[in-house]
Amino acid sequence: MSLSKIKQDWETLGELDPCWAVLTSLPKGQSGEPDFDAFFRTGEEEIAGVMQKSDQLGRSSKRESVLDFGCGLGRLTRALSTYFSLAVGVDISAPMVERARQLNQSIANCEFILNTSGDLRQFPDNHFDMIYTARVLQHIPTRAAIKAYLEEFVRVLNSGGLLVFQLPSFIRVRNRIQPRRRLYAFLKALGVGEKTLLTRLNLSPMHMTFIPKADVIDYLASLGAGILDVHPDSMCGPTIESHTYYVTK
Ligand SMILES: C[S@@+](CC[C@H](N)C(=O)[O-])C[C@H]1O[C@@H](n2cnc3c(N)ncnc32)[C@H](O)[C@@H]1O
Repeated sequence: MSLSKIKQDWETLGELDPCWAVLTSLPKGQSGEPDFDAFFRTGEEEIAGVMQKSDQLGRSSKRESVLDFGCGLGRLTRALSTYFSLAVGVDISAPMVERARQLNQSIANCEFILNTSGDLRQFPDNHFDMIYTARVLQHIPTRAAIKAYLEEFVRVLNSGGLLVFQLPSFIRVRNRIQPRRRLYAFLKALGVGEKTLLTRLNLSPMHMTFIPKADVIDYLASLGAGILDVHPDSMCGPTIESHTYYVTK
């Protein structure tokens, strides 16, 4: 599956149901204006935990710039901006980036940038003091493409900086089939509208990919990155095993 197909799906999600697409634990197709205060509070809580862990790992010295990869509506970028001079959110979906800019326009040190390539070539080497990404890499359809982003994270991370990423490490065979995604693609090819597929038929184009923890650790080592901590998380719910990795270079 190509990056342009992924981009198209996330543009649709960003247009039709951005809050649910960002946090699938929220109700689908919310009518009216969602409670954005509560939405952004979930980001503050998540980032508070990450920054506490960062302090425990002794990574609190330089906090100039942070990258939030796959920022969606800026739920986490906004929270990160309270700890860093500049928080940069990048996303593959133009509607997500546009809405993130609107929702966070009062936050002077947040910036949102469209990044539609399979790399981070728009950023130089050793650029960010911290990189955070959660609920994003799992939606990238191949392990090779996920690894290419990991390599880029290490490249753009400052020496001594902190990379924190979440990634599923195991999905049971029966959950790998992803019938709702396959049916979405099939019906879309037959001409059924995306709004119907998402809201009326309760289908979703979202892909789920995993890489076993041992493979991730081996790959990070091959990039010369240092692993500070790896712990299980519950970001993908009870049926998918997921880990959060704390990495430096
Ligand atoms: C489930 S949302 C999570 C958003 C945000 N990380 C959060 O937790 O609030 C996934 C986001 O990743 C973005 N995304 C998916 N593939 C991407 C890619 N290859 N590059 C950049 N962003 C991507 C989607 O457009 C979407 O906004």
